[in-house]
Amino acid sequence: MPEPDPEWTAGTAPGTCPSVTHAVALFRRPLDFLTSLPAHGDLVEIRLGPVRAWVACEPRLVHHVLMDPRTFDKGGPLYDRLRTLMGDGLVTCRQEAHRRQRRLLQPAFGPPRVAGHLALIGEEADAVCRAWRAGHTVDLTAALTALTTGVTSRVLFSDSLGAAQAAAVRDSLAVIVRGLFVRTVVPVDALFRVPTPGNRRYLRAVARLHAVVDSLVAERRRDAGCDERDDLLGTLLRCAHGDGAGALTERGLRDQLVTLLLTGVESTAMCLASVFALLAGHPDAERRLHEEVDEVLAGRSVPGPGELARLRYTRCVVTETLRVAPPGWLFTRVTTREVRLAGRRLPRGTTVLYSPYLLHHDPASFPEPGRFRPERWLPERAAAVPGGALLPFAAGNRKCIGDTLAMTEATAAVAVVAARWRLRPVSGHEGPPRPAATLGPRSLVMRCEPRRRTPAGGPPGARPPAP
Ligand code: HEM
Repeated sequence: MPEPDPEWTAGTAPGTCPSVTHAVALFRRPLDFLTSLPAHGDLVEIRLGPVRAWVACEPRLVHHVLMDPRTFDKGGPLYDRLRTLMGDGLVTCRQEAHRRQRRLLQPAFGPPRVAGHLALIGEEADAVCRAWRAGHTVDLTAALTALTTGVTSRVLFSDSLGAAQAAAVRDSLAVIVRGLFVRTVVPVDALFRVPTPGNRRYLRAVARLHAVVDSLVAERRRDAGCDERDDLLGTLLRCAHGDGAGALTERGLRDQLVTLLLTGVESTAMCLASVFALLAGHPDAERRLHEEVDEVLAGRSVPGPGELARLRYTRCVVTETLRVAPPGWLFTRVTTREVRLAGRRLPRGTTVLYSPYLLHHDPASFPEPGRFRPERWLPERAAAVPGGALLPFAAGNRKCIGDTLAMTEATAAVAVVAARWRLRPVSGHEGPPRPAATLGPRSLVMRCEPRRRTPAGGPPGARPPAP
């Protein structure tokens, strides 16, 4: 694809010993480091340890990269590491394998199927916050991860996971997203083969996640007519039991399930946790959200399709959260041939990065980018946002397959929780932000203030107020 804009500039991020200082900056204060890069060009060279990499900083340049997946394929430090976890599933597979996989899975994520999941989303959200009690503190990140685990497992397997399996998914994810980030910033495989406690913990977490998925497949296969079920596992089993050239191998089956479980649980949980953290700091937005939820739900615990469509401000809150704190904030690509980009010659095998966080904090696209203002997304104002500036789900043929599910799930879950509870921050519980492969409050603890009459009594899943 020819480069459309010869005006793009290229530069190099400053640093006395870039192979050390860039990795340290990206590790210690990644968001500041990223947002400092556009000052040096539209395409900026950085070092990830010994690896030279280029960060695309300008929105049209990022779209140019995303719309040419044959040249800028899945690869680079993040995806090379993700392959040990997800093999060649839909997120990680190379371009040549992508179309077949996407065609297989796409129908399960289309709007009609997602609309059919609204009731189960409401049930999972209601079950999570029904257990809370007035005045008690709750580990919100864990609760919201339980919610997204419930939704994802019912979409994939038609069933909730058992308590032990759900805990294994949650605990493994926490270790994996942190370990992945370290392996992306310092892409030196030899370091991660040393049997340190941290490396062993990471490998154990990967093995645990694989074991959960294997046991779910084995359980289903014990059922007669196991591949007739109308869920994602049923679709994949039909493909695995077929005998055409496109039949799925056992490894391929596990790769897809691990991929969908991990992406479905993690990103949406981080989005939801960020929503409540941001609302707590923005009382005007919170008040407006509560007014809308009260009016639209009118005493119902969960929204139906009609109510969901009327939750317009709630959707703006979710969208603005995805702008301010996109769960997927840094991604890598690798060039499959020599290519010129922003006037630079990038040899085959070059790592190129893009960051939704960086684009979402560009003042040229979003005035006062650091301010949380859901009103930006009201229909009469959203038209002023430059096309392509908002990119939480990426673009092109590798765009998130779960975008409709995620928006439906987040909007409905925020409404269900906010109808019952006002969540207040508990000081001393924020902890320092720990950069990981996804962005969001990883250990958010909040206090529950009832908005409607709530049941009294012992709190399953909630802790009494601290003395
Ligand atoms: C708020 C929630 C979510 C966010 C912010 C998000 C974000 C993203 C982004 C940015 C990408 C592209 C990555 C890249 O360019 O390298 C992606 C891809 C993907 N996401 Fe999501 N995602 C979310 C929820 C989900 C859910 C609920 C699922 C499925 C259950 C899902 C499944 C996938 C898959 C399979 C891909 C790869 C698509 C392909 O390459 O064809 N995501 N997601």
